[in-house]
Amino acid sequence: MEKRIYNFSAGPGVLPEEVLLEAQKDFYSYKGEGLSVMEMSHRSKTYDGIIVSAENDLRTLLNIGDDYAVLFLQGGATLQFSMVPLNLMPPANKADYIVTGAWSKKAVTEAKRVGTVNIAATSADSNFNFIPKQDVFKLSEDASYVHYTSNNTIFGTQFKREPEVGKVPLVCDASSDILHKPIDINKYGLIYAGAQKNMGPAGVALVIVKKSLLKRSPETLHTYLNYNVHVENNSMYNTPATYSVYIMGLVYKWLLKNGGLDVMYSINKEKAKLLYDAIDNSDGYYKGSATVEDRSLMNVTFNLQSEELEKKIIAEATAKGFSGLKGHRSVGGLRASIYNAFPKTGVEDLVQFMADFKAKN
Ligand SMILES: Cc1ncc(COP(=O)(O)O)c(C=O)c1O
Repeated sequence: MEKRIYNFSAGPGVLPEEVLLEAQKDFYSYKGEGLSVMEMSHRSKTYDGIIVSAENDLRTLLNIGDDYAVLFLQGGATLQFSMVPLNLMPPANKADYIVTGAWSKKAVTEAKRVGTVNIAATSADSNFNFIPKQDVFKLSEDASYVHYTSNNTIFGTQFKREPEVGKVPLVCDASSDILHKPIDINKYGLIYAGAQKNMGPAGVALVIVKKSLLKRSPETLHTYLNYNVHVENNSMYNTPATYSVYIMGLVYKWLLKNGGLDVMYSINKEKAKLLYDAIDNSDGYYKGSATVEDRSLMNVTFNLQSEELEKKIIAEATAKGFSGLKGHRSVGGLRASIYNAFPKTGVEDLVQFMADFKAKN
């Protein structure tokens, strides 16, 4: 097999090697049927089996009950910035948003086109380097929902627990940390996530929505934008992103086979600790950009003392096969995205590389 690099990309991100090899085996002729999944009708029995088992495996992983619908939609997480308010804001047309980064801000922009947005809390003043605490949230009792972003891919911060929102439905953009640990789905009204970081290839937005909220969607909504249409059609109102859903299904099977989300969570904590320890024990040579208690387990952001050194380390790292470490332009520095599929050995090798770089520079 050709050598693979360590892929620290924030997204599309690394996929489990076993999944890629499994897909490769069936790429040309799926289970000997003589055609690839990409060439298969989404109405065929075989494809139905693929999408149904993807949904069922996800339900097992997250312990999702029948009172929730699971949808595989298109338009990325970005379309959900619009679909969420279009469907769930009425009739009150008021919602609370906790703004912890660039993606929450984009969600707010779309929600404001639908109704009144109350910014319940924000960390904008400090370039989103922390997560506001529960006691500063200014929540409205009559909000249609509270929206937050569980993991801030760009800034490397993460909620360690869900905001407490009482009876108001909680809506979460979990694009960059879904399935990284077990969660209690019953705390949520709706969760959405682009697939391309922790679940599969680009092209799918996963939506898990409490069925009792579906009655809010106005009938005047454009057909494709109405969640009910997708629920009634089992995510097949139009042609779904068939191959992406297939790979997501393989990722779910990989997670189940490897012990599920409890096991994944402890591995994720170990991996992140290795990297944060290396940063914290570097006598200030490397400096984490997020407040310690709010650090993300998925996107580790850090700086060196100068942009020059940062350029140098990224160039040397890339040459050695550590790819995708350049931080987002709004934070600068480096960002190591270590999603579920990122191997622990890759983190260990990066830590060693960082120590060597420090000794030489
Ligand atoms: C937290 C978060 N939300 C939303 C998005 C946008 O996702 P998409 O490109 O699937 O629309 C991203 C993409 O990086 C993200 O990290």
